[in-house]
Amino acid sequence: MANNSNLGAAKAAKNDEFYTQYADIQKEINAYLEYNPDTFRDKTVLLPCDDPEWSNFTRFFAQNFERLGLKRLISTSYAVESKKYKDYEPTLFETESPLFDMDKTRIKGKIFELTRDTNGSGRIDLDDLEWHYLEGDGDFRSPEVCTLRDQADIIVTNPPFSLFREFLGWIIKGAKQFLVIGSINVITYKEIFPLIKNNQIWSGVGFNLSMIYKAPYANYLEANQKFVRSKGFNPEDNFIKVPGVCWFTNLDHGRRHEPLQLMTMKDNIRYGKHKEIRENGYIRYANYDAIDVPYVDAIPSDYEGVMGVPKTFPGSYCPEQFEIVGCAEGDSGKELGLKPFNRELKKLNKSLRDGQLYFIQDGKPEKPYARILIRKKQ
Ligand SMILES: C[S@@+](CC[C@H](N)C(=O)[O-])C[C@H]1O[C@@H](n2cnc3c(N)ncnc32)[C@H](O)[C@@H]1O
Repeated sequence: MANNSNLGAAKAAKNDEFYTQYADIQKEINAYLEYNPDTFRDKTVLLPCDDPEWSNFTRFFAQNFERLGLKRLISTSYAVESKKYKDYEPTLFETESPLFDMDKTRIKGKIFELTRDTNGSGRIDLDDLEWHYLEGDGDFRSPEVCTLRDQADIIVTNPPFSLFREFLGWIIKGAKQFLVIGSINVITYKEIFPLIKNNQIWSGVGFNLSMIYKAPYANYLEANQKFVRSKGFNPEDNFIKVPGVCWFTNLDHGRRHEPLQLMTMKDNIRYGKHKEIRENGYIRYANYDAIDVPYVDAIPSDYEGVMGVPKTFPGSYCPEQFEIVGCAEGDSGKELGLKPFNRELKKLNKSLRDGQLYFIQDGKPEKPYARILIRKKQ
């Protein structure tokens, strides 16, 4: 059972300590292989921010080393003393190894590598992983892990959510291919959105999922009860369901080249499944030259101007069909130059903020949810 300081630390760790399920990793990777069976062939894959002894990322890539045609697999972990949450027992794998070091186990990161058949089994798999302690704690920003990044071709992980911006910046700085998990909310971050707009990164195949994670320690859910209750807590098994989870990548896949099947504006208004569009048509914004499209499946196929669409759009985005023009939310919205609201408008709707779109409905300004602005490709 946890002591109080562990509970406090677990609270502070928030959702940085969730572990991805094997089936979710397998499903996503298989989609890239379907599109291009050689996606990982002869590549060095780095899995940072992992705990290789129990990570399903390490397990998946090690077990599929030969099928994927990998050249080298590297996986690194972050030392427990550097984590906010410090409840930890070394595994038997570590304590029974001749390399086990009592002084290092809590303060050093570890590196696991797979390149060859070390045990003469005739195949390269999980049992051939070789490991040692890192010089430092395994922080992805440390010079040692930066060197591993520079040696890698593809970086794959579920990074700590609280450091997502920094982690993606770290990958982009290394100019690497990648596949990582993040929240749908990162799309509108001012550091991330321009990369999506310029087709430097895009959504993976799995997008806006409700993903089931394993929380690492028995007391983790106990310590984070408020957060956990809001996400659907199953006290039986230490698993947690987190909504709005997306894969982000710059690896190509088939879904992104499948255009959305859409109806014309006239047909949406006549026969579409959304009552508000049948009744009101497409409303124009009062502060931007565009129409509001509240549902991705109601995007009119024949509209030539700019359209504001839900922020789930990147999950269906096909760059041959549409271009992304901007993001009307937060800092990205301010950068779009959306006109500030005047006092009169604010009196009518106190929730209006600068950098957001609004339209007039029943004589009152109303703001839609976060919108991404798109235009049909010519
Ligand atoms: C969301 S968990 C994911 C773990 C594993 N990749 C998986 O999906 O199963 C993120 C991990 O990153 C670790 N971490 C936090 N800050 C880190 C840092 N600065 N450098 C490296 N790892 C870090 C956390 O302790 C945690 O183990």
